[in-house]
Amino acid sequence: MSNEKVQIFDTTLRDGEQVPGCKLNTEQKLVIAERLDLLGVDVIEAGFPISSPGDFKSVEQIAKVVKNATVCGLTRAVKKDIEVAAEALKGAVKPRIHTGIGTSDSHIKFKFNSTREQIIERAVEAVKYAKTFVEDVEFYAEDAGRTDNAFLAQVCEAVIKAGATVLNIPDTTGYCLPEEYGAKIKYLRNNVKNIDKAILSCHCHNDLGLATANSISGVINGARQIECTINGIGERAGNTSLEEVVMILRQHPTLNLDTNINSKLLYSTSKMVSESMGMPVQPNKAIVGANAFAHSSGIHQDGVIKNRETYEIIDPADVGVTESAIVLTARSGRAALAYRAKKVGYELTKLQLDVVYQEFLRFADIKKEVLDDDIHQIIEVCKLKEVKIA
Ligand code: KIV
Ligand code: ZN
Repeated sequence: MSNEKVQIFDTTLRDGEQVPGCKLNTEQKLVIAERLDLLGVDVIEAGFPISSPGDFKSVEQIAKVVKNATVCGLTRAVKKDIEVAAEALKGAVKPRIHTGIGTSDSHIKFKFNSTREQIIERAVEAVKYAKTFVEDVEFYAEDAGRTDNAFLAQVCEAVIKAGATVLNIPDTTGYCLPEEYGAKIKYLRNNVKNIDKAILSCHCHNDLGLATANSISGVINGARQIECTINGIGERAGNTSLEEVVMILRQHPTLNLDTNINSKLLYSTSKMVSESMGMPVQPNKAIVGANAFAHSSGIHQDGVIKNRETYEIIDPADVGVTESAIVLTARSGRAALAYRAKKVGYELTKLQLDVVYQEFLRFADIKKEVLDDDIHQIIEVCKLKEVKIA
């Protein structure tokens, strides 16, 4: 059975760039947009054009250079926002307007001082207006995660009727549990009459560390687009991480779902975004963190040296990482030391290894990590008679 495609909607340049201190200039955004296009994302959310002249310019320029992906601009359900977004997207081969409004009772009451009926009217009006500029209109029901499912279904039905082609169901506050979010998607599939005319999209925030799990639960239950960012950056605790959802789908073929992403570019893209935003990636970050393929305990190292698959479920080459790392610390065993010594040029006999290992332990107890240069030094201190050069 061939895998069904899940569209990857990248919002690094919009939700991701909202992070304090991560602001990018137009030049930097263009470079990232071109890289995202090369990576194979289906949609690039390039910005929120009405928010500032700089953002308008970035969306306008990205729209002109991106060759394959759909280029999308965010708006509120406000006519002026939609006009400005349409203007910024004019040069795009495949433009999309992403408009929407809060649908939870909390948003309706406190943000809009409005009613459910009025919210549906505004939503429909915004979609119809966006449709006068572009064919591809995505609607977001902000705070859908905390929106009553029956009302959400009414909103979805109305905006599809107005012409929305994609329905974004954001868990804006990162509140949902995976079962709950999946059930919401399933409920919409079963209760929105015209749902076959639109794609459901997951947009999950990571306030409880569940953004990736929720997005996967969403696609298992019928959503066919995931909104995500490189390195999972985004408002507060961030958004769903692109590299995680892509690799989860790829590593679990029984789900029969896949994306168009060239996973070999994941690591370099992560580095590029992290460097241009000045936002370091946590070392233990799944897929792209510095330790994602590094092994430091003796038991694990011994296993990986014998066969990589004992402790690795992903081949590092599949995400563009050259090789697994065997890190030498005081927790490392002889196998790891022999392996690294060989890499820097020494073929140690069993007896020599016993001697070097004792010296290594003394050294490693003082130093956090033993590097290649240290290995030379340790072997020299041991004054071994004949060391075979590997
Ligand atoms: O999290 C959210 O609800 C959003 C919308 C504006 C799409 O980012
Ligand atoms: Zn968001």
